[in-house]
Amino acid sequence: MIIRSLRLRNIRSYVDETISFPTGSVLLSGDIGSGKTSILLALEFAIFGIMKGVLTGNTLLRHGASKGSVELSFTLGKDNVSIKRSLKRTSSGVVQEPGTLTINDKVFEGTPQELKARILELIGYPETLLTKSKSLIFRYTVFTPQEEMKRILYENREERLDILRKLFNIDKYKRVKENSLNYIRELKNKVSVLQGKLEILPDKKQELEEYDKQVEELKEKLEDKEGELSDIKDEFEKVKKGFDKLEQELEELKKVEKECEVKKSEFSSFTKQLERGEAELKKVNSMLDELLKGLEGFDISKAEEIKETIKRKKEELKKIDKKLSEINSRKSEFKTKKEASEIIIKKITDLDVCPTCQQKITLKHAKEVNAREQVIIKTCETNLERLEEWNKKLSGKKRAIEEEIDNYIRGEKELEAKKVKLDALEEKKERKKNLEKELSDLKDKKSKHKEVIKELEQRLEQQKDKKEEFEKAKQELEDKREEKDKLEKAVVEKKTQLQTINKLIERLKQEIDRMKQDEKKLSQLQEIKTWMQDHFIILVDVIEKSILARIYNEFNAFFQEWFNTLLEDEALSVRLDDSFSPVIEQNGYETWLDNLSGGEKTSVALAYRLALNKVINDFLSTIRTRDLIILDEPTDGFSSEQLDRVREVLDQINVAQGIIVSHEAKMESFVDSIIRVRKQGHESKIF
Ligand SMILES: Nc1ncnc2c1ncn2[C@@H]1O[C@H](COP(=O)(O)OP(=O)(O)OP(=O)(O)O)[C@@H](O)[C@H]1O
Ligand SMILES: [Mg+2]
Repeated sequence: MIIRSLRLRNIRSYVDETISFPTGSVLLSGDIGSGKTSILLALEFAIFGIMKGVLTGNTLLRHGASKGSVELSFTLGKDNVSIKRSLKRTSSGVVQEPGTLTINDKVFEGTPQELKARILELIGYPETLLTKSKSLIFRYTVFTPQEEMKRILYENREERLDILRKLFNIDKYKRVKENSLNYIRELKNKVSVLQGKLEILPDKKQELEEYDKQVEELKEKLEDKEGELSDIKDEFEKVKKGFDKLEQELEELKKVEKECEVKKSEFSSFTKQLERGEAELKKVNSMLDELLKGLEGFDISKAEEIKETIKRKKEELKKIDKKLSEINSRKSEFKTKKEASEIIIKKITDLDVCPTCQQKITLKHAKEVNAREQVIIKTCETNLERLEEWNKKLSGKKRAIEEEIDNYIRGEKELEAKKVKLDALEEKKERKKNLEKELSDLKDKKSKHKEVIKELEQRLEQQKDKKEEFEKAKQELEDKREEKDKLEKAVVEKKTQLQTINKLIERLKQEIDRMKQDEKKLSQLQEIKTWMQDHFIILVDVIEKSILARIYNEFNAFFQEWFNTLLEDEALSVRLDDSFSPVIEQNGYETWLDNLSGGEKTSVALAYRLALNKVINDFLSTIRTRDLIILDEPTDGFSSEQLDRVREVLDQINVAQGIIVSHEAKMESFVDSIIRVRKQGHESKIF
């Protein structure tokens, strides 16, 4: 990781400032309180965000500002990375806001926690740091704040070892050992539980054997019963066949019985019909006698004769009527003529002129006319008398004919009535004929039915034992069926018993299988337990010790080397004890850090810090911050001579980018570039 630039907005003494960092050694130079540490804290914040109890939002956000932010750009191998994190003041304190991580122009926005996860992955720090409040690796490799170094030196043995274990990730061995012991305890529990469970295994095996025996016995019995059942089934089928035949025959018999019943009932109905028919015939016969009596002497041909006579008489009557009408018209002719003559006679005596010849009526003429008219009158009267006589004669004849016609009509009516009787007679005769036919048919049918009934009754008589035979066969069939059912039931019972025992066996086998698996598991667990107890824990111990030994050797060697470089005093020597505590010897006497001078203390601290940095970078291969080291006031209390030695040490470290905070003017000559920080008013600026 090489830092390229850092922009601070409202961070501690900064309002808005961007600082560019070159590679090589860079000196952050400035007076006390000018804003140097603020830059380093902002850098740490950019990478990890705020860390509870270590780096708080309140420490970072400028007094009075409601918002602040840090933007850090750096290169990581070939990648250009920049991170922006923001802070906001709220009623409950200063909080972080979501930020962005840009890798080669690819922007990722996320919560502070998401950003931290991405960055840890990017710089190859262990994931476990994500939930931790501080990054020990960063703090002991890249940037150790001024007070932090002294803390590790003054910490008690156990705590120091604890910090170092965490740093080198070897506290995992301690955890492995603790967990192994817990696991062994658990294994012991499991083993004793399994042993308890397996105590009943021999009993279960014996139980299984007994069940197997029972199954064998049951199978034998079942076979016997099945043999019996098959025999009885054959017998049953045989009996059933006979029974079925009888049943069919009986069915036929029932049909015959029914038919016989039907025929009998038909026979009695024929008898009744016959009785009724005979009674009717009797009645018809007496009616016929009566009708015949009424028609005695009746000749149908007379009726035609009478009809002819009536016709003829009516024509005769018509002729007489015609003649009578002619007589009457001639009579009125003569009457008119007579009256005309009488009028003429009467008029001729009273008139002077003749109305016919227009001559003056003379007496003579009057006499002649009178005589002539008298003749006419006489003739008329004679004719009238003759006509009257004829009329009388004809009228008498007419009356006689009319009387005759009446008599004939009466006779005709009588004949008609007889004819009706004759028709009735014919009808009765027809009925009689039909009845006689019906009766003879009925008699026929009756006699045929009688024969059929006789025949059917004979058949029934012949078969009368069938019913008894059938009942017997039925009973036999029932007995066989009962026997068969009993055997079937016995077979089913045996099968069910067998099934139940088989199920029990199945369950028992499964149980035994499970127990066998448990047995296997038990021996595996015991093996694991022994292996863990007798080998694994010892092995972990050995590994831990060997790693610690390697760390110790390297750490101790660099510590001694750099201490000797920084402080060329033969009377004073340093080394590490087995808990990585610095042991200081002065003139052969062991002494304690507090007893040393300020410069000597700083020398021990810096040598320890740089040695630790070296060892961590060597042991933790994944971390990608090994190019960068930040030293905040590493030379506190150093003499001018010692400052020259710092240069040597820095050359030995040989990192790509070293940021050193110091207000020692001499330091300026050691470094490749200088960043000057100054505070004006309440605002820090870069010059
Ligand atoms: N939240 C803050 N808001 C404003 N100023 C602050 C805030 N916190 C600290 N300061 C001030 O910012 C200034 C810079 O502090 P910083 O720790 O960066 O100084 P320094 O240059 O490292 O000093 P030294 O050389 O003493 O270590 C100091 O005056 C400090 O009191
Ligand atoms: Mg400072």
